[in-house]
Amino acid sequence: MRRSISLKSGQKPANCGKLAAMKTTSKGGGPRPPSARSCLKVLVLHGPNLNLLGTREPHIYGGERLEDISRRLAAQAAAAGIELDSLQSNSESELIDRIHEARDSEVDFIVVNPAAFTHTSVALRDALAAVRIPFIEVHLSNVHAREPFRRNSYFSDLAVGTICGLGSRGYEYALAYAIAYVPAK
Ligand code: DQA
Repeated sequence: MRRSISLKSGQKPANCGKLAAMKTTSKGGGPRPPSARSCLKVLVLHGPNLNLLGTREPHIYGGERLEDISRRLAAQAAAAGIELDSLQSNSESELIDRIHEARDSEVDFIVVNPAAFTHTSVALRDALAAVRIPFIEVHLSNVHAREPFRRNSYFSDLAVGTICGLGSRGYEYALAYAIAYVPAK
């Protein structure tokens, strides 16, 4: 049976309009045409086995559950007045489909922990390259201090940046960056 956890903040945050106004200025400071969109949209993706956080090798990944991490990220997004969606899936195809859909739904930024797919999935890499949505790669553990195969990532060279070894705080730092990020369109 396919299992995935999808979280969507149901309503648009109240200060979306304010952010839309901010987004009329480009990264380089020059004006951009006003967006028809009302709010910055961030998608957080969690790859395989991250649904087991809390019980899965807690000496490596910490004792927090994914639900706790997602709750904190939702609060951070609500405080910043942005829209946040998140999905955990153990299925490569489901993650790829969600990345394709992100382009149609005008997601501005993706925070992704591809988990084991980091080291194996050309298909997921290609999906992110295809939609050209900027993303940060996050890992709870310091993948460089573990088995040699974890040092290879199919994502790092495409990512805006990577965060690893900071536990669940890594997601919060990535989201903070995304919130401050003004997409160059
Ligand atoms: C991980 C590191 C990966 O090597 C591993 O396969 C995971 C989790 C991390 O968050 O530290 O599942 O991405």
